Amino acid sequence: MTEQNRVVIFDTTLRDGEQSPGATMSHAEKMEIAAMLDEMGVDVIEAGFPIASEGDFAAVSEIAKQSRNSVICGLARAQLPDIDRCWEAVKHARQPRIHTFIGTSPLHRAIPNLDMDQMADRIHQTVTHARNLCDNVQWSPMDATRTEHDYLCRVVEIAIKAGATTINIPDTVGYTAPRESAALIAMLLERVPGADQIIFATHCHNDLGMATANALAAVEAGARQIECTINGLGERAGNTALEEVVMAMRVRNDIMPFRTGIDTTKIMGISRRVAAVSGFPVQFNKAIVGKNAFLHESGIHQDGVLKNVETFEIMRPADIGLTENNIAMGKHSGRAALRAKLADLGYEVGDNQLKDIFVRFKALADRKKEVYDDDIVALVLDAAANT
Ligand code: KIV
Ligand code: ZN
Repeated sequence: MTEQNRVVIFDTTLRDGEQSPGATMSHAEKMEIAAMLDEMGVDVIEAGFPIASEGDFAAVSEIAKQSRNSVICGLARAQLPDIDRCWEAVKHARQPRIHTFIGTSPLHRAIPNLDMDQMADRIHQTVTHARNLCDNVQWSPMDATRTEHDYLCRVVEIAIKAGATTINIPDTVGYTAPRESAALIAMLLERVPGADQIIFATHCHNDLGMATANALAAVEAGARQIECTINGLGERAGNTALEEVVMAMRVRNDIMPFRTGIDTTKIMGISRRVAAVSGFPVQFNKAIVGKNAFLHESGIHQDGVLKNVETFEIMRPADIGLTENNIAMGKHSGRAALRAKLADLGYEVGDNQLKDIFVRFKALADRKKEVYDDDIVALVLDAAANT
């Protein structure tokens, strides 16, 4: 696979993720998550928004000092004091990045009350300023997916000429759809002079449940950086989930031949830690990291996976660092699963004994949502005592 197919993973759990109402993390928790991101092979960690608060500044500075492998990025509005403050925080990193942004769609242009020419001047001035401080500058036209194409091409060209090395195309309100997301990147690559010299990034929100699909479509069209968060944490319905895009490109590498530097066996550990420190539990049926993502309860499925795991699993639990059993014992479970579970628990039973325990098991499963290992051991002992 060529370097052309290497996709940069930019994690913004500590910035966009933390912007989720109620997801605030303590300083120590941010350090811990940043260390885990660094360790698992995330290429760029967006560590915070240094001008937003003293706490954010301190966290970005310390993450910059502690990071070993990842590029450390801070966010800054298109204002010189923001950019200076961001640089003060990220400059300690081995590989610092300044990420500056401004809303370019008609709705967002109206907020600072800048016309198109005034905004273009502001972009030129702020990106030039950032580039004078740092060799690695990312620029984002916020709400890009609702920005007029001609204007988007114009401002992207200005940012590239001013020295931006990554151009991020945010779908700020989760409005786009996969075909449109791909077409936007293709259009920019075709129309903007110098577009082949920089990396295009995709930054998707999940308001319509399409963040993962939109990010992958952008990559297929030529974007080479995905912005994402652990568990899809983020504003409103969240951001593209890191675990989803990484595993999608791995499992369907036949049709999406892209490579990341992520050690996928670290996914489950960081997912659980982010859920704990952010206070945002992961929904049971969440793709990849949900409690039920690798669990099989129905008799037909359990029988299938016991015979050949590939019948109902497209990836191995171990691929994401999950070691627990994938068989959930409940009222839909069949005899084959019960026999396997008993063997796991150290009980080799004959056919008659299995029949007896199975009847007891079904009666219990009808009353209880989940049947735990201890319940099954109790059933075995009960059956033995009553025969
Ligand atoms: O969603 C968005 O537009 C953002 C920008 C700051 C990149 O998070
Ligand atoms: Zn965002």
